[in-house]
Amino acid sequence: MDGKMRMVQACILAIVSGIYYLGVPGWAGSLRKSNEFKRSEHFVDYGEVYPAKYALGPAATLDAHTTYYTKQMIALSASDQVLTIDYGVEAAGFPFFEVVALSAPTQIEVKYAEQWPALAEPQSDGPWTYTNGLANTFRVETFNLTVAGRVESFFVQGGQRWQTVRLLTNTTVTFSAVGLKATSAHVPVGDVPGQFATSNAVYNGIWALGARVAQVACVDAGNAPSTWQITSEGALIRGQQTAQSVKGATAGNYTLAFATKIVRGGTGWKVASGFRPYGASFILTSDYPTESTFVNTNRTLLPPNTLIFNYGWGIFNQTSAATGWNQYFELDEDVHEGQWYNISTTITANGYNVTLDGKSLAFVPIDEAAYYASSAYFGSGSATGGTWGFGPSQDQEAYFKDVTVAAENSTLLYANSLLANSTLAEYNVAPLDTSVCLDGAKRDRLVWTGDFYHTNRVIAASTLRYDYVLGTIKYILSWQRQSAPYKGFVHVDPMLGARPEYEDVFLSQYAALQDYQDLFLSGVGNYFRSSGDIAGLQPYWNQIKAQVTAQLASIDPLSGLMVVTNGYYFLGPSNGSAVTALGAHTLRKLVPLAQALGDDAAASLYEDTANNLSQAINDKLWNPSLGVYSLSLDAPSNYSLTAIAFTILSGTANSTQASAMISRLPELRLGVGYKTNSGDADSGTTQLSPNTQGFLLEALFQAHRDLGVQNLTVAKTLLDDLWSKMVTQNEYYSGASWEYLYPDGSPGIDLFTSLAHPWGAAPTYVMPEYVLGIAPTSPGYSTWEFRPLLQGLGLTEANGTVVTPYGSIEAKWEITGTGDSALVVATVPKGTNGTLVLPDGADAQCDGQSYRGGHVKLHGGKRTRVTITSGIAK
Ligand SMILES: *[C@@H]1O[C@H](CO)[C@@H](O)[C@H](O)[C@H]1NC(C)=O
Ligand SMILES: *[C@@H]1O[C@H](CO)[C@@H](O)[C@H](O)[C@H]1NC(C)=O
Ligand SMILES: *[C@@H]1O[C@H](CO)[C@@H](O)[C@H](O)[C@H]1NC(C)=O
Ligand SMILES: *[C@@H]1O[C@H](CO)[C@@H](O)[C@H](O)[C@H]1NC(C)=O
Ligand SMILES: *[C@@H]1O[C@H](CO)[C@@H](O)[C@H](O)[C@H]1NC(C)=O
Ligand SMILES: *[C@@H]1O[C@H](CO)[C@@H](O)[C@H](O)[C@H]1NC(C)=O
Ligand SMILES: *[C@@H]1O[C@H](CO)[C@@H](O)[C@H](O)[C@H]1NC(C)=O
Ligand SMILES: *[C@@H]1O[C@H](CO)[C@@H](O)[C@H](O)[C@H]1NC(C)=O
Ligand SMILES: *[C@@H]1O[C@H](CO)[C@@H](O)[C@H](O)[C@H]1NC(C)=O
Ligand SMILES: *[C@@H]1O[C@H](CO)[C@@H](O)[C@H](O)[C@H]1NC(C)=O
Repeated sequence: MDGKMRMVQACILAIVSGIYYLGVPGWAGSLRKSNEFKRSEHFVDYGEVYPAKYALGPAATLDAHTTYYTKQMIALSASDQVLTIDYGVEAAGFPFFEVVALSAPTQIEVKYAEQWPALAEPQSDGPWTYTNGLANTFRVETFNLTVAGRVESFFVQGGQRWQTVRLLTNTTVTFSAVGLKATSAHVPVGDVPGQFATSNAVYNGIWALGARVAQVACVDAGNAPSTWQITSEGALIRGQQTAQSVKGATAGNYTLAFATKIVRGGTGWKVASGFRPYGASFILTSDYPTESTFVNTNRTLLPPNTLIFNYGWGIFNQTSAATGWNQYFELDEDVHEGQWYNISTTITANGYNVTLDGKSLAFVPIDEAAYYASSAYFGSGSATGGTWGFGPSQDQEAYFKDVTVAAENSTLLYANSLLANSTLAEYNVAPLDTSVCLDGAKRDRLVWTGDFYHTNRVIAASTLRYDYVLGTIKYILSWQRQSAPYKGFVHVDPMLGARPEYEDVFLSQYAALQDYQDLFLSGVGNYFRSSGDIAGLQPYWNQIKAQVTAQLASIDPLSGLMVVTNGYYFLGPSNGSAVTALGAHTLRKLVPLAQALGDDAAASLYEDTANNLSQAINDKLWNPSLGVYSLSLDAPSNYSLTAIAFTILSGTANSTQASAMISRLPELRLGVGYKTNSGDADSGTTQLSPNTQGFLLEALFQAHRDLGVQNLTVAKTLLDDLWSKMVTQNEYYSGASWEYLYPDGSPGIDLFTSLAHPWGAAPTYVMPEYVLGIAPTSPGYSTWEFRPLLQGLGLTEANGTVVTPYGSIEAKWEITGTGDSALVVATVPKGTNGTLVLPDGADAQCDGQSYRGGHVKLHGGKRTRVTITSGIAK
């Protein structure tokens, strides 16, 4: 076993040094041109993902007839109409089928899902609403298989464990292979460079959630091609959520006119929309000719020759983005496929007037739209103003060209023939050009700045794909404002297909969630801490400083606390302990980077400012009678999990304070986890956040390690009761970390919940650092400590691999004998020395020398074995 481990280790090391020193993106990352649809010159080929298991039967099942998949032939027929696929864990890619035989042209309906219960729903866990995401909006798609050979979806499916394939025709079809052409790495979690394992199998499963999510939720430049195709006939747009022009954000009361040719099923567009696709939505269906109409076309939802209207995200009413009633306007003539039509939509004060080839098609009263617009969060906020977009419905396909927009007085405001590739950037569907990590694999596929805090640390502890970390930093900073308003701030959640040249359209996203600016900057500091990558960060230093400067302007000179200057905060209120402590934490994280870059002025400014922020929190917000920091000046007797977390993480709280706060945590307990605020409802539908509980998890271990708070009760419940739920429930298991949980431990936004959300994977970086116990004490592990957590979680063993710029540290501890003795072993790469910190008063032997407490030097290029003979149980 030792020999095998060493071999694997040597191989991983070689690859890891490739990432560090040669910049090779990942494992076996050979570049290959994708010949299907000529999507991208830069596709990074991760091979194919095949099912782990499958079953055949009359309906979706895995209980009976389950077979391990080894590329057997699989035949669908009248007796076996449904193939159920279990990929075992979350995977991303272009779905494909290798057809070897069919009796006649065959239609199949394919459904994708992260969680098992979704397979029972007509739309599975979709469709997606908020963004186009450069992926399939729909979780159900239909294929027409006509000849032997390979069929591949045009669209990426961003994340699923499950898939069904339902035979729609009275035919038979045989597949020699089914699966996903992977768009992200899909290696077993045991094969990524960072590793961690313990005597507790559930903890090992929890650690693995991050090693999986850091693969599936990060995407290489080239692996998210445009979902639109610019052709010589115009834009060919397959069924997907509408994508909006950046040029209509301030337009209102206009007439949108365009030409469209339906290829299959129908065509679709929006007016009066936000840049998010929330607005007046129209679908026009064709006369459904037999040759091109799929058997499963839902003629109740989408009757033929009909204009369908809704206001909001679209015509699908799905769990967490409910929409109004669809309004149907049946045409008195047939709408032919393959024929160009001219459509116009005029926004008036009373409604939307739609014409087809100059003839009035329908007048849609505006009342309902006005009602929804007034409560819209993501839309234009008006039923008569906002931009336009294009996108047909599921399985439909249409061309669009010759778009014009005219003002009420007929002045031409806009014209685009949709024949140039620049259209893709204008409509926020440009191909991804930077390797980034997303908030979620399947949904919303935004590059959320705050999420980067957890994501980059998860990567550092598992996949070591620092190219994604640097790519995300580059992408986010490419959106930094160079002038007022919001000068210095970054867009908090840029879309994959959007381009910074249009940043003015997204001003609202500079004003949103202002503490995400700090979470991102903390992430940059954490990246430096684990990588020591001065060369990688140097080019961004001026931008980083400008962002800090912008954020420092939100320190209130009177209170000395942070007060939102734009929008709002995510972690807690203005003049509050959470956001101010995060501010201090962020500045402290950036000090070593400033020092390494020789910017002493910035280093001392950040250090002094952090000290002032901590002082202000202690002076103004510590509530000694409650033993917590107040939520804010305005809410002195409320408190929050995020404030407890960041006052500890930032070094603001001393040991007495940390201990007092931690003893209040049981009052925040709700179901399997903890509420973020004491004011949150004790309801069965309160969303428990593994994001905020991830901050807390580290804070609890840090208080234990650095502040001597000898109580891991709550930390243990976070692992045993909350994170375990992502591991132990097969019906929801994705192998990756989740976005939210309900108090009963099920996914916290029902089917919509992202079950591959890196922000939920904090244990993946916390456990190696505090349980195995290896942490850098200077950037890039030029110095580091090994403090095994021999007591507190009931473990008898922990081992792992911590990757440093010098190579990998292999470490292990194991309780031996009756529990008062232990063996600690570390193999250290050349070039760096570590320090093993022995428990106070423990007797130990190493290399013939005896110790009582104190430190054992762990020399580079050497394996050190330390026997602790007594004194650990206390
Ligand atoms: C398949 O055959 C059944 C029974 O003969 C028939 O009712 C059905 O319409 C056929 N379906 C198709 C798509 O041809
Ligand atoms: C499927 O393809 C075959 C062969 O090209 C064609 O005859 C048939 O009409 C197609 N069916 C649909 C629904 O597109
Ligand atoms: C078809 O659409 C109707 C109306 O929206 C809906 O109730 C029904 O569930 C849909 N059926 C399928 C199979 O999607
Ligand atoms: C949409 O779904 C919600 C939640 O299930 C339901 O309350 C609402 O009535 C539905 N709306 C329509 C128009 O069907
Ligand atoms: C809608 O547009 C048509 C064609 O321009 C026009 O004849 C009709 O009066 C308009 N209807 C309304 C209600 O504005
Ligand atoms: C459109 O016109 C109506 C009526 O004149 C007006 O109330 C509304 O504000 C206008 N909308 C926009 C976005 O300008
Ligand atoms: C027509 O409307 C546009 C947009 O509202 C405005 O910019 C322009 O000045 C108007 N032209 C005339 C002649 O009123
Ligand atoms: C648009 O981009 C695609 C892919 O790079 C290219 O093949 C095509 O020629 C371009 N079309 C135009 C009109 O520039
Ligand atoms: C921690 O801070 C509190 C409040 O300022 C103070 O009362 C307490 O003595 C301090 N405890 C320690 C251990 O320094
Ligand atoms: C540890 O903390 C928990 C939760 O705050 C508390 O219930 C328990 O009494 C504490 N245990 C000890 C030994 O202090």
